[in-house]
Amino acid sequence: MTDSSPTPPAVLMRGITKRFPGVLANDHIDLEVRQGEIHALLGENGAGKTTLMNILYGIYHPDEGSIEIYGRPVSIHSPHDAIKLGIGMIHQQFRLVQTHTVVENVILGMGKGFVFREKEASEKIRELSARYNLKVDPDAYIWQLSAGEQQRVEILKALYRGAQILILDEPTSMLTPGEIEDLLKTLHRMTEEGHTILFITHKLDEVTAISHRVTILRQGRVIATLETSQTNERELARLMVGREVLFRLSKEQIQPGEVMLQVENLQALNDKGLFALKGISFTIRQGEIFGIAGVAGNGQRELVEALIGLRPVQAGRVFLQKDEITHDSPRARIEKGLACVPSERLTALVPSMSVAENMVLKSYRQPAFGRGILLDRTTVRSYSQRLIEQYAVITPSCDTLVKLLSGGNIQRALLARELSSQPRLLIAATPTAGLDVGATETIWQILLEQRRQGRAILLISEDLEEVMTLSDRVAVLFSGEIMGIVRSEAQNLEKIGLMMAGAFRLPQEEWV
Ligand SMILES: Nc1ncnc2c1ncn2[C@@H]1O[C@H](COP(=O)(O)OP(=O)(O)O)[C@@H](O)[C@H]1O
Ligand SMILES: [Mg+2]
Repeated sequence: MTDSSPTPPAVLMRGITKRFPGVLANDHIDLEVRQGEIHALLGENGAGKTTLMNILYGIYHPDEGSIEIYGRPVSIHSPHDAIKLGIGMIHQQFRLVQTHTVVENVILGMGKGFVFREKEASEKIRELSARYNLKVDPDAYIWQLSAGEQQRVEILKALYRGAQILILDEPTSMLTPGEIEDLLKTLHRMTEEGHTILFITHKLDEVTAISHRVTILRQGRVIATLETSQTNERELARLMVGREVLFRLSKEQIQPGEVMLQVENLQALNDKGLFALKGISFTIRQGEIFGIAGVAGNGQRELVEALIGLRPVQAGRVFLQKDEITHDSPRARIEKGLACVPSERLTALVPSMSVAENMVLKSYRQPAFGRGILLDRTTVRSYSQRLIEQYAVITPSCDTLVKLLSGGNIQRALLARELSSQPRLLIAATPTAGLDVGATETIWQILLEQRRQGRAILLISEDLEEVMTLSDRVAVLFSGEIMGIVRSEAQNLEKIGLMMAGAFRLPQEEWV
C-alpha cells in the first residue's frame, strides 16, 4: 500500500437489506467502520442493530447489499467464514458450556488434539488475559463465574481465534458498574493493539464515554453517522428516538378518579440477590394509563413480579385502593382485583387447552361454571363465546387449542380473560412485544377503551412509541430507580430519552 492510498475501512457494508416475515429489519444500511476505532451502533429496541451484526457475522444472509472487509469484497455465509476473516462476535446471550472449564470452552470446536492442546491453550489464555486486562481463571468452570467473567471468556475465545474486528452486542446490559469500567478499559486496550470494535448499545452515556464514532439506527435505517466528539447526548437522544413519535391513536382528556394503586418505596432483589428495585413510589388513578418506560433489565421484571406476588419485597408497601396487598399471595391479589397480562404471554395461558377453557381459567371457581372440578361445559362455552366476540379473537372455534392461534389473537384472548373480571388494576407488561403493526393497534385500542371506561392501567414497555401513545403519565425506570415522572407529551421526549439512558434525573418536586 502506498502513502497516497487511504487505509481501507475495516468494515464496509453497503445497501444491506434484510426482511423477516412482516418486518423490514434492515433497510439499505450503509456502515463504514474504520480500522482501530470503537464504533458505536446506537438504536432503540428493534431498530435492527443485532440483525445487521448477525449479517456481518454470517448468522443471517442479507437479501440485498454487499460487504467489504479491509477493502476486499467478501461473502460471509457462516460464523466460520466470519472468524476466518478475523471477525468475532460476543452475543447478548452467552454461548458457553456451563459444565466445561474456561480453557475447554475457549478451544471448543477448534479441531483435534484436545488434551494435548489444553496446556498450550491455557498458557495462551493467561497471556491474552494479561495483555487485555481480562481477568479470569482458565481452570474455573463456567458455572462458577459471574456474568462479567463469562463475558471475558467470550472475548478471550474470540481473541484466541484471531479476531481483529470484534462485535459486542449490548455488552454492558448485565454487568455491574465496576465490570463495565473494566470492559471499557479492555476495549481501549484492544484498539491500542490495532483491533476494531463494533459496540451495540442503546445507552447514550456509553456512546459518549468510549466510542470514536457512532451510527444511529432507527426502524431499520441509518439516521446518521457522527464523530462522537462533535455530538452530545441530547442530539443522540433526539436522533435515536426521533423527533416525531407517531401519535396514531388519539386519546381524549379524562379526569382521573380515585387512586387505584399506590406503591410506596418498594424495594426488591433480583435473582442474584442484588437490589433491582431501590425504592419505587407512584400512584395510578381510575381512568389513567401510567406508563413505565425504560430499557429492559432496569427492574421492570422485578417490579411486575413484586406487584403480582411472585417476588418478595424487602421494604415498601403496595395498596390496591385501600387494601394493602404487599405480602398477599398471587391468588389473594387476583381476588382483590389485580389482573396482569405478562410479557411471556404463553405462560399466562395453558397452550394445550382450548380457548374456552383458558378463558375461565381464573374464574372457574365461580358457582356459575359448575361445582368442584366438574365444569358446566355449556356455560363455559357460551361465556367464552361472548368474550371471543367482544374482543374480536379470531379463532375457528372456542374449542380450538390456544397454541394454534396467532400471537395477536392469543394476546386478545388473554386480555379478554383478564378484563372479564373487571379488575381494579390491569398490569400490561410489554403487551405488544412481537406483534405486527395491525395486532399492536388492536391491543392499543382495547387498552384505550378500558381507560375510557375508567380502568386504571399500569403499562410497562420498552417500546417508547407505545408508552407515549397510550400513557397519561410516564415514569422512567433506570437501574431500579424512577428517574422522573412526566406527562406523555412530545416536548418531554428528549428528557425521557436522557432519563432512559441514566443521563438525567428530574428533581422530585417536578414530577407530575
Ligand atoms: N429471526 C427473526 N425473525 C423475525 N423477525 C426478526 C428476527 N430477528 C429480528 N427480527 C425483527 O427485526 C427487527 C429488528 O430486530 P433486531 O435486529 O433484533 O433489533 P435491535 O437489535 O436493534 O433491538 C425487529 O422488529 C425484530 O422483531
Ligand atoms: Mg438487539
